[in-house]
Amino acid sequence: MSSLPPRVLSGVQPSGELHLGNYFGAIRQHLALQHELPGECYFFIADYHALTTVQDAAQLRKNVFDVAVTYLALGLDLDKACLFRQSDVPEVTELTWMLSCVTGMGLLERAHSYKAKLDRGIKPSMGLFTYPLLMAADILVYRASVVPVGKDQVQHIEMAQDMATYFNQTFASAEQPVLRRPEARLSETPYVPGLDGEKMSKSYGNTIPLFAEGKALKKLVALIFTDSTPLGAPLPFDQDKVLALLALFQSPEELERTRSWYRAGSRDGQPFGYGHAKQLLAQAIEDHFAEARQRRAALLAAPDQVEHALRRSAEKARALARQTLDDCRRATGLR
Ligand code: ADP
Ligand code: TRP
Repeated sequence: MSSLPPRVLSGVQPSGELHLGNYFGAIRQHLALQHELPGECYFFIADYHALTTVQDAAQLRKNVFDVAVTYLALGLDLDKACLFRQSDVPEVTELTWMLSCVTGMGLLERAHSYKAKLDRGIKPSMGLFTYPLLMAADILVYRASVVPVGKDQVQHIEMAQDMATYFNQTFASAEQPVLRRPEARLSETPYVPGLDGEKMSKSYGNTIPLFAEGKALKKLVALIFTDSTPLGAPLPFDQDKVLALLALFQSPEELERTRSWYRAGSRDGQPFGYGHAKQLLAQAIEDHFAEARQRRAALLAAPDQVEHALRRSAEKARALARQTLDDCRRATGLR
């Protein structure tokens, strides 16, 4: 274990269309890391996790395919990184059970994301409650050292660190640990606001999907919540979500220019309001993902190729998971 190379792992739930928050918070980092650490990057589609919310078989299959296509269209290179379905490595559920036997209920009860979902009126199943156990198993089963995620997931990774420690203390030793301690890695934009100003999330229905375009995209962007500053007056921009989203796309110079229009409430002598800023945003989104949109169209027409890619990656990931499980079974006395 001590001589393991740095290893990257992350997952995305197939619970709906991927959105700007997923991309700027997580996926963009994943794509960069495959070049930094080729051969040691593992990305998966968290279909077991999605069962907490997606409970229709056809919908789940569609969503999984959609996430796979999205990653490949955005540039995931299968020679450098693995992209697989979580459920193609069922060993992860066995590790989940082992971890659940060394983890106190209190730890899970403190999970922000669980509490936030309850606050939103989402009905808590046991799956939702034990979600962080499965997530810890995802990370620990591959002995990942780096977990690139958005800010909302940091607490889950801290929990995975705690669970690795509990397991090692109970069944192994600090000198010869069985499970490796992971660290979270945040992107430069670890928190992307949604249409309503809260965290953009598939479960909150406030997202802008990556491949939205044309009228549908304009309609969504028009929904971004703004204040009621009249057209032509200076626009307050500290809290403005349109500008926060534009900042994801614009260079520092472009952004400074946009800020000057906000400050003046005008652009080139014409009034400038939120509607104009929203037009700029819709255009920036379309332009940014134009090439990926084309690659996506080709992949949508080649489902067998996508399925083959997922399976090939899963074999590689599963070999790693089996090694860890062997060690865990020996350490616990199950073998
Ligand atoms: P969702 O909340 O939409 O269901 P996931 O939970 O599947 O998204 O998240 C997949 C990845 O995208 C995670 O690493 C998560 O931290 C990141 N992410 C999701 N929403 C945002 C956001 N609004 N800002 C930054 N990162 C995000
Ligand atoms: N919980 C993560 C999310 O909702 C998805 C996920 C599942 C994950 N397992 C993981 C992320 C392991 C990183 C590592 O975003």
